[in-house]
Amino acid sequence: MALTRSPWRRVLQKWALLTVGAVGLCYLLSPTTAPWSRAAPSPAPTSTAAPSSPPAPPSVTPCVANASVQNISGFAKLPEQSRDFMLYQHCRAFPQLLDVPGKCGGPAGSSNVFLLLAIKSSPANYERREVIRKTWGQQRTLEGAQIRRVFLVGVAPRALDAAKLNHLLWHEQREHRDVLQWDFKDTFFNLTLKLMLFHTWLQQRCPGAHFVFNGDDDVFVNTDNVVAFTRGIPSDRHLLAGQVLANTGPIRDPASKYFVPTQLMPSELFPPYCSGGGVLMSAFTARAIHRAAQHIPLFPIDDVYLGMCLERAGLAPISHDGIRPWGIYVPRHSDPMDPCYYRELLVVHRFAPYEMAMMWQAIHAPQLSCGRKVRIS
Ligand SMILES: *[C@@H]1O[C@H](CO)[C@@H](O)[C@H](O)[C@H]1NC(C)=O
Ligand SMILES: *[C@@H]1O[C@H](CO)[C@@H](O)[C@H](O)[C@H]1NC(C)=O
Ligand SMILES: *[C@@H]1O[C@H](CO)[C@@H](O)[C@H](O)[C@H]1NC(C)=O
Repeated sequence: MALTRSPWRRVLQKWALLTVGAVGLCYLLSPTTAPWSRAAPSPAPTSTAAPSSPPAPPSVTPCVANASVQNISGFAKLPEQSRDFMLYQHCRAFPQLLDVPGKCGGPAGSSNVFLLLAIKSSPANYERREVIRKTWGQQRTLEGAQIRRVFLVGVAPRALDAAKLNHLLWHEQREHRDVLQWDFKDTFFNLTLKLMLFHTWLQQRCPGAHFVFNGDDDVFVNTDNVVAFTRGIPSDRHLLAGQVLANTGPIRDPASKYFVPTQLMPSELFPPYCSGGGVLMSAFTARAIHRAAQHIPLFPIDDVYLGMCLERAGLAPISHDGIRPWGIYVPRHSDPMDPCYYRELLVVHRFAPYEMAMMWQAIHAPQLSCGRKVRIS
């Protein structure tokens, strides 16, 4: 199921990580070579110059915890993240700290966007965002199809990190104009909140985008194949493709990251859903999800929540063989980084940043020749 990890790969990974780390540090430590300082020649500071630091976050009354949930039987014994989720489950509106209102050319112009890449990231994942910007997330026009990119982030959960990372994101935004940030704690159980805030943004700012890819920042996407696959499909019909999970249910082990208490979901069965690592949807389906979500209380696991929305809308997810959010099986003694495995795929899980860079080069190398069709299973 997972990518095989061979010793050479680990060694290579170590070296690459060290190198990337060192380069990254140099960037961060040197004020003159900071990546964002190249964005524009810095004008002499005047009173009208653009601010050089982020504005203070908007002050709005924060959503208040629902104290009544403490009366639910067994509440006090639940793990902290479950209790926290239940206390704030009803909070669905948060101020947006970073926005790119014109990302798709306004609501009316947004039908010129063919594919919007909406990538779930966390404030600290700077290197992943940087490599995605240079590889599969490039904003470009591919044989007439406009590709646009946004990263979806909240605020780092620890206050100490939050101020620094907000500053970093603000600089990234200045250079790349691709960050959507909302003022909520960026935690695993808040991923559904992130997803719903994105869908609201999508309907306001970019409703015409024909297709939306929504996935994690550690997946490798063969964007060319995604465009080729969706090109023939009408975006005004239902499409939600990914790796489908059916007949699964909540994990009741309180030690699990995915633990769902019966107090939150008595049923033992999830609706069919796609693994959240990477899903592809049409404009039609994005609208249907947004509508359905208004009637469904938030759920701690975002991909299951998407399944609930689809079920309510009377729609079903479909499996696509090229979407492998859990990686691919590579036969023993073969090279798991052989680009021929990835040339035919749409989405594959868990690439380190340097692996993304390598693979993006490799699958686009003109001399790449994959004689026999490589078998993936
Ligand atoms: C919890 O239950 C008690 C007893 O029924 C009740 O008096 C109290 O108001 C409840 N607290 C909340 C916050 O709902
Ligand atoms: C607060 O929690 C109680 C108990 O679960 C629930 O009945 C009520 O609807 C919740 N209130 C809000 C605003 O969600
Ligand atoms: C989600 O974010 C809100 C707002 O920051 C926070 O109050 C809540 O604790 C977070 N929930 C979880 C489960 O982390």
